[in-house]
Amino acid sequence: MQAHATLAEEVRRGLSAPAKSLPPHLFYDEEGSRLYELITELDEYYPTRTERAILERHAREIVALASDADLPLHVVELGAGSAHKTRLILAATVAAHGPSVYLPVDVSASALAVAEARLASELPEVRVRPFVGRHEDAVETIAALGPRRLVLFIGSSIGNFEDDDAVRLLCAVRRGLAKGDALLLGTDLKKSPKRLVPAYDDARGVTAAFNKNVLCRINRELDADFQLEHFSHVALWNEAASRIEMHLESQIAQEVRIGALELTVRFSRGERIHTESSVKYDLPRVDALLRRSGFAREESFDDDARLFSVHLARAQAP
Ligand code: AVJ
Repeated sequence: MQAHATLAEEVRRGLSAPAKSLPPHLFYDEEGSRLYELITELDEYYPTRTERAILERHAREIVALASDADLPLHVVELGAGSAHKTRLILAATVAAHGPSVYLPVDVSASALAVAEARLASELPEVRVRPFVGRHEDAVETIAALGPRRLVLFIGSSIGNFEDDDAVRLLCAVRRGLAKGDALLLGTDLKKSPKRLVPAYDDARGVTAAFNKNVLCRINRELDADFQLEHFSHVALWNEAASRIEMHLESQIAQEVRIGALELTVRFSRGERIHTESSVKYDLPRVDALLRRSGFAREESFDDDARLFSVHLARAQAP
């Protein structure tokens, strides 16, 4: 069974629709992953370093809250996780419980291999059990770990999802858990567009290159002829949806041929491809998502400037 759509299917669907879009996970080929790492170090891009500082400060308390004294704590992560942030939680888990299991879930086997190699040298007390697949596919494997479980969904990765899709995903995760297990959810917070827009449109143009890289990828992998100089990077604040949106805007009326799809895509001047949404949350919205998914928020940890927040939520009785 081929459970998820191929690149070709996703590109055809996204670029054939009246409102053109491409799913954000397409950003992360090798070059896109490299560019994303650079983004996380930009002055304008505060989320990564802010969340890391929150975890540095509160990892022990988070692990204590998640733990049941008599049980081991199995750490699951949705996404392979950049070593620095995840390591803070794992180090606190090892300090509290001794040797522990870490189950990172990711569609990218190479990202999992990198995470596994880094942890093997830095935290040898952690037994890494990589799961290659989509988050929803890992439910049985998560259930088989046994109690107690702590699921990390950090980095504001949830912000890429529409609320209904986020609820579907969190409901699937909840099915792999028992009552009392914990979820650690990282969310970027709503703030002035003066701060938000530069975080997605930095002075050095790294985010622009990251956005346009999806077109390079389609050129290479699907034999297309996108001319990058005829598309520009747009980052805008959508107040009604409380989200940053990234788009690629066609600078001219043009046709693009996608050889592998036997498809010609027509663009009018100013027409956009919506490539990413990044929701900026307030607490009521977080609470609603969690409640609809069978969790209750127990504690939130944020930075002094209230830029970012990390929430510890508890799986409720079904
Ligand atoms: C990885 C989804 C959390 O939304 O901030 C960064 C991706 N896109 N700059 C985000 C991203 C442009 C990032 N997430």
